[in-house]
Amino acid sequence: MANPTKIQFLDLVTPHQELKAELLAVVEKALSTAGFIGGPMVENFENEFAKFCDAKFCVGVNSGTDALRFAFMAAGVQPGEIIVTVPHTFIATTEAISQAGAQIAFVDVDEKTYTMDPSKLRGYFENECSFDQASGKLIEKKRKKPVVGIVPVHLYGQTADMDPILDLAKRYNLFVVEDACQAHGAEYFSKKDNVWKKAGTMGLAAAFSFYPGKNLGACGEAGATTTNDEALAKRMKMIRDHGQAKKYYHDIEGYNGRLDSIQAGWLSVKLRHLAKWNESRRTLAHRYHELFTDSAEGMALPKEASWTKGVYHLYVVRVNDREALQAHLAEAGIATGIHYPIPLHLQKAYECLGYKKGDFPVTERVAAEIVSLPMFPQLTRSQQDEVVSKTREFVASRMSTAR
Ligand SMILES: Cc1ncc(COP(=O)(O)O)c(C=O)c1O
Repeated sequence: MANPTKIQFLDLVTPHQELKAELLAVVEKALSTAGFIGGPMVENFENEFAKFCDAKFCVGVNSGTDALRFAFMAAGVQPGEIIVTVPHTFIATTEAISQAGAQIAFVDVDEKTYTMDPSKLRGYFENECSFDQASGKLIEKKRKKPVVGIVPVHLYGQTADMDPILDLAKRYNLFVVEDACQAHGAEYFSKKDNVWKKAGTMGLAAAFSFYPGKNLGACGEAGATTTNDEALAKRMKMIRDHGQAKKYYHDIEGYNGRLDSIQAGWLSVKLRHLAKWNESRRTLAHRYHELFTDSAEGMALPKEASWTKGVYHLYVVRVNDREALQAHLAEAGIATGIHYPIPLHLQKAYECLGYKKGDFPVTERVAAEIVSLPMFPQLTRSQQDEVVSKTREFVASRMSTAR
């Protein structure tokens, strides 16, 4: 039996205890004004988060999943149209595609960054699709359906390589919705424009999750879409609120997908600490890196591409025998995670898509080897030293038995 956990994978208690008075004041405010749905706390948070992301608009919704789904709908996706994403992500990315009425296509990820590989995306467009000049649409040959959008996922807090993805989108008239659910505050250096850009400003829209464990987490479910497109922001606001812009005047059928005001108020309190928390994650990641460097032979460390400033939502290493590493760390009271063990194209839910083992070899290789080590802003140096020491102990023992 594993020992009791000494080092958590993620400490959600400490930051909330530290901010307890401010968080409780939000509840007091909501109680004294009965402002539970919509109102100034939601609008304030939307303005503050848009500013944080350098985006013109932010529309708060009730989850990251709905932030994606509503963005696809607001972008005008029609039933049966195809949206391309990666199989190495959380299922919410693809659930949102299906639930917006669209169909999923996958392209593999890059082995170094674990984000969408632009060359694989180009390969899919050039080999599996044909461009219909008359309609200006890219048609997937197999399903004979138009491809309309791309969803790069900024996984683990590192942005995808957006310049080539945006170039391809432009060439084929496709929209891009960034899945930034793990990347609040991450940055991308666009060589094309010679400027650093924030996650959430590069596509037509971007989705953020404020699930409690995210870099910016609510105290419950919450999400938001950012965009620089005013018309899209307006459509998003209608979709999240039963299709109405004016009470009881429903131009379309929408959803009950609003961000509630207590969550928005809590998010405003926590947003003031996000830059500091992200910096702390980066410092911890670089320290992990330094401490692990000389044991790197038996282990692959996360690589930060030159074009990204990651916010290390997760610190993910790769080893051959990851279940054994997890067991070794659990024995020492250290909690770990796997994000994600089964690639989406091999999930039972997606048998209907007809993909098979071997279709996305990078994703499959990565999914079998990844382990997420403890990573949160309050992780202490001595806790980190313990994680490193136990991980190194495991790697060294594997290396000596391999010799
Ligand atoms: C990559 C990614 N996309 C989408 C989501 C969905 O966000 P939510 O859980 O807020 O619906 C998540 C959250 O876990 C995620 O990690």
